[in-house]
Amino acid sequence: MAPNLGVLFTGLHFENPFLLASAPPTESDGHILRAFEAGWGGLVTKTIGLHPVVNVAGARTNFNRTDAEGGVSMRKRLGTVLHSSWNWELISDKTLDWWVPRLGKIKRAFPDKILVCSIMAGAGSDRELDHWQTLARACQDEGADALELNLSCPHMDRQDMGSNIGQDAQLTSVVTQAVKRVARVPVWVKLTPNTTAIVPEAGATFRSGADAVSSSNTFTSLPLIDPDTLAFELHVDGFVSYGGLGGPAILPLSLAKVAELTHAFADKEFSGIGGIATFAHALNYFLLGCGTVQVCTAAMLDHAVGPNVIKDLLRGMTAFLERHADKGWSGLADFRGLRRGRVVAHSQIRRPDKTEYHGGHDAAG
Ligand SMILES: Cc1cc2nc3c(=O)[nH]c(=O)nc-3n(C[C@H](O)[C@H](O)[C@H](O)COP(=O)(O)O)c2cc1C
Repeated sequence: MAPNLGVLFTGLHFENPFLLASAPPTESDGHILRAFEAGWGGLVTKTIGLHPVVNVAGARTNFNRTDAEGGVSMRKRLGTVLHSSWNWELISDKTLDWWVPRLGKIKRAFPDKILVCSIMAGAGSDRELDHWQTLARACQDEGADALELNLSCPHMDRQDMGSNIGQDAQLTSVVTQAVKRVARVPVWVKLTPNTTAIVPEAGATFRSGADAVSSSNTFTSLPLIDPDTLAFELHVDGFVSYGGLGGPAILPLSLAKVAELTHAFADKEFSGIGGIATFAHALNYFLLGCGTVQVCTAAMLDHAVGPNVIKDLLRGMTAFLERHADKGWSGLADFRGLRRGRVVAHSQIRRPDKTEYHGGHDAAG
């Protein structure tokens, strides 16, 4: 019997635990329909907002590559491998009115796939909180199966938007509560990794009724400076602003954030994101306790919606379950969280002689 890749996450049945993350692969109905055809179990739309969006007058995304000498650069060279994506793209530049009929069309075409709508507004006024509710209602009325609140975009000028909300436990709580007041579908909250401690913000959002936390969005970063021209490798008129790093470079960074979260809230649900291109990568998130995972950079580089990436993920999970069938494993529930308990305080790691180290304190007299 073929292994069952289906999962139950925030009360929703996914045919497999692999989603496209909110980003260019989910920026239009055309992309989304192609993605579902390719086999993704669900996806999160590009973030939808109510304010006009105009992107920079230049490339919004580029890719850092590493060469055999360890050099990292966006410059095109032979014999390099992907290091990371770097972007300063804003949320969807299409209006809510543009999205609404298309969401309904997508759901009618793929009623069994999970369509999550990513939404964003501000937090600084009642009007902004109303915006969250307008967006939430519009998306769920068109059949969205869940909402994902974008509290994590790292390049917002407004102090009450994006990762500026996700860095503030109180604002995180206010926004979650506002959406939960009108939501009839599960509410996921995408928190920013650009914070010293992610657990307080996650606690605030869970106490306010969030059904899951998604982590990570991109990490705040800059393009490198070309040593010959002294220009940033990506710029507009010589100027640059803070943007977000994704792809292979952030896999270990995001795993640390996720481990903090799944330790602190063992009974809660998490969607893992960051640097996933293969099942081996996704497995890290599952073993730390995530119930679904999301992919962006790898899909962008694979025919825009990742048809080969999803095939590989499905093949990888099937082969993994077949390999472990002798343990009685038949699905994700059998190995989810299996390595969460192996991440411990530094002082709990064995020393050659346990009497030598006292967790950074003096030895007892
Ligand atoms: C060009 C680009 C645009 C993105 N836009 C959004 C967005 O609108 N909303 C959002 O929540 N995340 C956005 N993201 C973040 C991704 O959803 C994802 O969290 C991040 O890229 C890490 O995953 P990865 O390592 O697979 O790329 C964007 C990422 C990229 C590269």
